[in-house]
Amino acid sequence: MIRASAYTFKILRFDRKKPQEKARFQTYRVKVIPGLTVLAVLNRIRDEIDGTLSFRSSCRSAVCGSCAMVMNGKIDLACRTQVASFGKESIILEPLPNMEIIKDLVVDMTPFWTMYEKVKPWLIRSTPDPEKEIPQSEKDRSRIDQFVNCILCACCYGACPVISRDPGYLGPAALAKLERFVLDSRDERPHAWLNDVNDEHGVWGCDTVLRCIEACPKDVRPTDAIIDLRKRIFVDKVKKLFGKQR
Ligand code: FES
Repeated sequence: MIRASAYTFKILRFDRKKPQEKARFQTYRVKVIPGLTVLAVLNRIRDEIDGTLSFRSSCRSAVCGSCAMVMNGKIDLACRTQVASFGKESIILEPLPNMEIIKDLVVDMTPFWTMYEKVKPWLIRSTPDPEKEIPQSEKDRSRIDQFVNCILCACCYGACPVISRDPGYLGPAALAKLERFVLDSRDERPHAWLNDVNDEHGVWGCDTVLRCIEACPKDVRPTDAIIDLRKRIFVDKVKKLFGKQR
């Protein structure tokens, strides 16, 4: 017989439509069987104990990126985090940092999407569209594999210490996505893309403390992307100095 253990979940509650009610932790006691995820417990709390609790989820399998939150101080996806993995019976759940709370564990991701859009995260071509699709070699595809894996969960955005002091910083997800297109053999974005990220709100804003890498549930390494973009800007400057700019 599978034995259930009792856990205490302390969940941050706040409703921005009722700012007079300050943020507070609400405690729920739930019996959990081995293997149950934090998301499964949240669904149970909402369905059986408290229908007012708000959180986001969709795929339940670490694909859609909607259930990112802070669990006992660690940012991750609730649907891929087993309750037993914490090794303690008291679990604190909080919304992602660096974004305003809409309600409980749901944050307003507008700043994240605004920064994402700024890097033009789509293929840009300067030559006329070919009649057929543009094939990529296996080698070409392998260069972007890591960055294609990003599910836009904003775990890295929530973990980034730079965003907490500079809301104008593009952030790790947007810069990693830019690197994804810069490395794409089919992308022909004009050289001016360098100017768009060549300042303290772009690649030079990063503290390189690797929190984004620690937080990413898909093993994407945004800091590596940022360092590579810095190198490209530097090489471009040197080429300009020696008149080799294309
Ligand atoms: S519910 Fe889709 S990533 Fe968790």
